[in-house]
Amino acid sequence: MHTLTFPDDFLWGAATAAYQIEGGWNADGKGESIWDRFCHTPDHIENGDTGDVACDHYHRWREDVALMQRLGLSAYRFSVSWPRVIPAGRGAVNPPGLDFYDRLVDALLAAGIQPFLTLYHWDLPQALQDMGGWGARDTCGYFADYADRLARRLGDRVRHWATFNEPWVVAFVGHQYGWHAPGLQDEALTLQVAHHLLVAHGLATQALRAADARLQVGIVLNTRPVEPATDLEQDRALADQYWQRNEGWFLDPLLRAEYPPAAWEDYGDRRPAVQPGDMPLIAQPLDWLGVNYYSRGVAQEGQILDPVPGSDYTDMGWEIHAPALRRLLVRLKRDYPIPPLYITENGAAFPDEVSPDGRVHDPRRIAYLRDHLIQARLAIADGVDLRGYFVWSLLDNFEWAHGYAKRFGLIYVDYATQKRIVKDSGEWYARVIAHNGVEEEAD
Ligand code: FCB
Repeated sequence: MHTLTFPDDFLWGAATAAYQIEGGWNADGKGESIWDRFCHTPDHIENGDTGDVACDHYHRWREDVALMQRLGLSAYRFSVSWPRVIPAGRGAVNPPGLDFYDRLVDALLAAGIQPFLTLYHWDLPQALQDMGGWGARDTCGYFADYADRLARRLGDRVRHWATFNEPWVVAFVGHQYGWHAPGLQDEALTLQVAHHLLVAHGLATQALRAADARLQVGIVLNTRPVEPATDLEQDRALADQYWQRNEGWFLDPLLRAEYPPAAWEDYGDRRPAVQPGDMPLIAQPLDWLGVNYYSRGVAQEGQILDPVPGSDYTDMGWEIHAPALRRLLVRLKRDYPIPPLYITENGAAFPDEVSPDGRVHDPRRIAYLRDHLIQARLAIADGVDLRGYFVWSLLDNFEWAHGYAKRFGLIYVDYATQKRIVKDSGEWYARVIAHNGVEEEAD
């Protein structure tokens, strides 16, 4: 069997997010978040699930860090719950909340695991939502204050900071489709929210660097590149339109200090209000960029194919197509002045079950991860400066509007008992890490 080896200092990680794993939704002075409110309102989440308890990581974090160490992770990407640290979003800090992350960071470092901290993975303090949320420009300044406070407490130990996770999802899924908190369906507001997220990114980047110039500041974007089915102009134009409205809508401001010109034209009176100075603020140099990749789209004859004939799908209904990951990374390098990259999320949901032998056999997840790692390695050979890879997710967890119905973990969670079982994919990933490489054929 042939092993594709990765660069020596390549980071092998797994990712989670606060609301999806922590539970402890009102423990020790934590404030209410928009996800608490959203889940406590009937009919928003499959099966009426909530993140009230989730994986109870708020209480079981020691056990979870021990599991990470057992897998051999060299990095762990997690998010901080803003209302756990600053219950009202602005003003007083909640010391037990800050202490929780302080202890977690120390435990990670003691286990030889580099922390990658995301400031915002979707759980805005409800008190700020009540003042207009991301539709209100003031929220950007409160976010920068929150970033400053965290950096002053954790910046001596946490080097890698991401401001936002997937601002596209925050703006569109939360404010236009209404499937995520705060559950709005307000097309006119959506692009203003997106703009405020970018402004908040800029202000927080300044705050982090002012607190400690050594911090490595980045942002994490979701990508679902739409590829043309053919070389025909119609298919290429539709693919490009999708790029500009989705990936480009964030990449271009961040890396070129402008919105994609054609999409800007098309949006007409939906365009956001932009204040003087906003674009250079947004486009400050990034130390790194995080790319979340799960799937692609295919444009043919004026539509996005669904399903793509001959393709396999995950339990989310997402097409499995690893080669598009390599094409995406190469495209980013070709078309943008990109900083070093990390794949900050990649993974798949399948309906895992505990077998009579007490184990969780998930060969499809192993195949998914292996195929994507091979494409990532090929992209490195193409000259892409890819520094690390994070599986989504460390643990099965609360998958937003789907509740606990979708399992993405390397580790199975029995929610009734909170027992964790390392899946076959977790054991497989531990071997990948130990060998710093992936075998090209099935284990
Ligand atoms: C991403 C989110 C992450 C998780 C995965 C499946 O969009 O960042 O929290 O839900 O999808």
